[in-house]
Amino acid sequence: MLENNSKIVGIEEFVKGQELGNLASKTFLIRADFNVPIENGIVVEDLRMRSVLPTVNLLREVGAKIILISHIETKDGSGMEVVAKHFNDNLGLSVKYVDEVIGEAVNSAVSELEDGEVLLLQNLRVNEGEKNNDENFAKELAGLADFYVNDAFAVSHRKHASVVGIPKFLKHFAGMQLMKEIKSLTEAINPPHPFVFILGGAKFDTKLPLIKKYLDKADSVVLGGALVNDVFKARGFNVGKSLVSDGATDISDIISNPKLIIVDDVIVHDADDVAKVTVKKISEVADNDVVADAGPSFGDVLRSIVSDAKFVLWNGPLGNYESGFTDQTILCAKILMECGVRGAIGGGDTVAAVKSLGLDDLDQKSNLFVSTGGGAMIDFLVNETLPGIEALE
Ligand code: 3PG
Repeated sequence: MLENNSKIVGIEEFVKGQELGNLASKTFLIRADFNVPIENGIVVEDLRMRSVLPTVNLLREVGAKIILISHIETKDGSGMEVVAKHFNDNLGLSVKYVDEVIGEAVNSAVSELEDGEVLLLQNLRVNEGEKNNDENFAKELAGLADFYVNDAFAVSHRKHASVVGIPKFLKHFAGMQLMKEIKSLTEAINPPHPFVFILGGAKFDTKLPLIKKYLDKADSVVLGGALVNDVFKARGFNVGKSLVSDGATDISDIISNPKLIIVDDVIVHDADDVAKVTVKKISEVADNDVVADAGPSFGDVLRSIVSDAKFVLWNGPLGNYESGFTDQTILCAKILMECGVRGAIGGGDTVAAVKSLGLDDLDQKSNLFVSTGGGAMIDFLVNETLPGIEALE
């Protein structure tokens, strides 16, 4: 719970409390989340990589040795070498890379590290001990270093060896980004009012607890993405061939809540031709239509709600982002910027929308905190802590 987060020691606090020279030559194992999108061998979105730089640089400045560990979800498990290259070529951080997670090659690369140097290990998930939270695997990783730092908020909802196992064996700290995430998202749990919650994406079954919680806490809950299709369906409208949940989750008790904001015009495409796009009232949707985004009234409705708000929390795209229906998601990012409202945003596509506006340094240009978490952000907002945070207590 929230009170307990104060038991966590941040790496900055720890470093500041040390005598000069104390941490020189000490080895820090930093759990990061470099699960970043890679296209044609190139990292296309690097927020998560940039977010770990303050912690890495802080430790380099005191002469520590750094081992970075992370997972990456690619079909064949490869990709971490691309991450290493991106650090070296684009982020001004010189990173050595070893293509193993544990074993001889790792041990010798660690023993060759000079003070201030950084080593990145292969994708943790190539070893099945990672997802199984295998104690021996955690112990072996812990044996590489003197201290452990979790700066991987985005994976802290997973009870994996590198998240909850290693801190059992090493003195542990929260990284600077993790501390920022906890602070900013804790505020989103008890924010100033009027408070607007915007939630997109799909899967009512996983998001219903969050929606219920925020129908209590927020003054308005703006729904977008495929979640809206479920509400329209439950309200008795034909949603044609739109993406809907499997119907196993009963949402009847929320669909008439007056705090729920859903516009009644939609962008649809023909199920057989994604390029055949029209604007319709929800009551006009035909059997072969697919609802792909909110309609043009969305912007005005959102602007009027957000312009009075004192805090906005936003997670998830508002249309079918992956198929190119990005308009309302991008408009939402624009409106939040223009209104200058304070808040927090997260989720991969949400961040991509922000980036498409050339706003990847949004947290400096606006009053919005950009979370590195997708699922982790949602879990934190529901449970007010995460397994990876509890492991640091
Ligand atoms: C994410 O992308 O949300 C994190 O990296 C966690 O990835 P996972 O959902 O594969 O555990």
